Amino acid sequence: MSERGLELAREKMTAAGVATAAIETFSRFYGILESGATGLIREEDVDPLPELPRHADLDVSAAEAADALSRTAIIKLNGGLGTSMGMDRAKSLLPVRTGTGERDGEQLAFLDVIVGQIRAARAATGARLPLVLMNSFRTQDDTREALAPYGDLAVDGVPLDFLQNREPKLRADTLEPVEWPDDPDLEWCPPGHGDLYPALHASGVVKALLAAGFRYASVSNADNLGAGPDATIAAWFASTGAPYAAEMCLKTPADVKGGQLVVRKSDGRIIQRETAQTHPDDMEVSLDPARHRYFHTNNLWFDLEALDAELDRTGGVLELPLIRNEKTVDPTDSFSPKVVQIESAMGAAVAVFEGAQVIEVERERFLPVKTTNDLLVLRSDVYELTDDYRLRATVPAPLVRLSGAYKAISAFDARFPAGPPSLAGATSLTVDGDWTFGSGVAVEGEAALPDQGEPATVPDGATVTGEGVRV
Ligand code: UTP
Repeated sequence: MSERGLELAREKMTAAGVATAAIETFSRFYGILESGATGLIREEDVDPLPELPRHADLDVSAAEAADALSRTAIIKLNGGLGTSMGMDRAKSLLPVRTGTGERDGEQLAFLDVIVGQIRAARAATGARLPLVLMNSFRTQDDTREALAPYGDLAVDGVPLDFLQNREPKLRADTLEPVEWPDDPDLEWCPPGHGDLYPALHASGVVKALLAAGFRYASVSNADNLGAGPDATIAAWFASTGAPYAAEMCLKTPADVKGGQLVVRKSDGRIIQRETAQTHPDDMEVSLDPARHRYFHTNNLWFDLEALDAELDRTGGVLELPLIRNEKTVDPTDSFSPKVVQIESAMGAAVAVFEGAQVIEVERERFLPVKTTNDLLVLRSDVYELTDDYRLRATVPAPLVRLSGAYKAISAFDARFPAGPPSLAGATSLTVDGDWTFGSGVAVEGEAALPDQGEPATVPDGATVTGEGVRV
């Protein structure tokens, strides 16, 4: 570990034309990383969130809802590379549903569904509702290409996207920028969605939205199709006068989720605690749904005036906690050299905004796709795509656990050549080993496929149950 690592990284960023605020943010994090500071938030120093107001209980008039939505912009985080699914491009370009109605039979990507939700909400409410994507160097070109057919999408004075920053991946052993001559693009990574703030600052998007007459932003992950435009939450948020709000969901026993908000005892501020910031001794209690009842959805609301003031005040460098993310330089090759990526989380800014609010939303607003397990469920008959492009659950979602053979998206797709099996009758599906599914397969009850020691096939029309395959 060395001063030299930071020097080399700064040189590399400067030579590549990275914005000053991003270099300063990176340098601040590098110092924290090198000092070995853990940034742990101990359980004894925090209280759980109190009982929250519920989206389902909000009493909002149609006029208030329409007014708030007419002043709202939708920002989608689209800079991540889906490395957990072996991808190096935007997850939002993956096909997720087959279209119906006017798009019958078409393969729709996440991005098409997002656009469908925006257009449907515009048609239903008359709101202008701009869509603004935060892209990264790896997602901008192909995302723009995918949006090109939607000629009516752009709103006057508002860009369709802005570009987040990039930073060098660091060799895990030396903390120096990694060299990867085979594909020098892989020497770089986006710095996590906490980069939203420097990226918004550098791009001038907040000022553009304010100038175009917008006051609020609803921000969410592009891989969460549950977070569609919501006029009721917009009206609630407007009525609070708060600078910032986070949407939370109640945990179920199946949720072993880290990311949570807690109340800091020393000053009563709401802060975010990621899994990486939880002391091993506190892990159990932090996951206990009886104590910490809610988890963070990463759906946020901003008052654009307050956000603009904060970005101007800080030059876009918000003091967020560091997340040390360990990966391999080539995300598709687990034997390539280990690297550390310096990241931060957008939701950690809750501590920065005095008077931040928190609201409980229904599970339907949280449908993230982190793994191919999630993708299989979302593509299946557990959900239906409504005319306004919402994903409505037809039955409670089963718990799907696929083996390592399905981890990468290409391997996953190859094992479901005829599309997903029917999961509507399943409570869970556990697949060990390597099975390729035929067409017309149904999964029932607590289904399991054991490892056969070699690739195996579920024949066309078969049923998968707790006893294995029934033909
Ligand atoms: P994830 O935490 O799922 O990360 O992002 P990811 O990058 O998509 O996937 P992995 O970790 O590499 O597998 C949550 C959301 O935040 C966006 C992603 O595009 C996704 O919508 N994101 C993440 C960014 O916009 N920028 C980033 O630097 C990281």
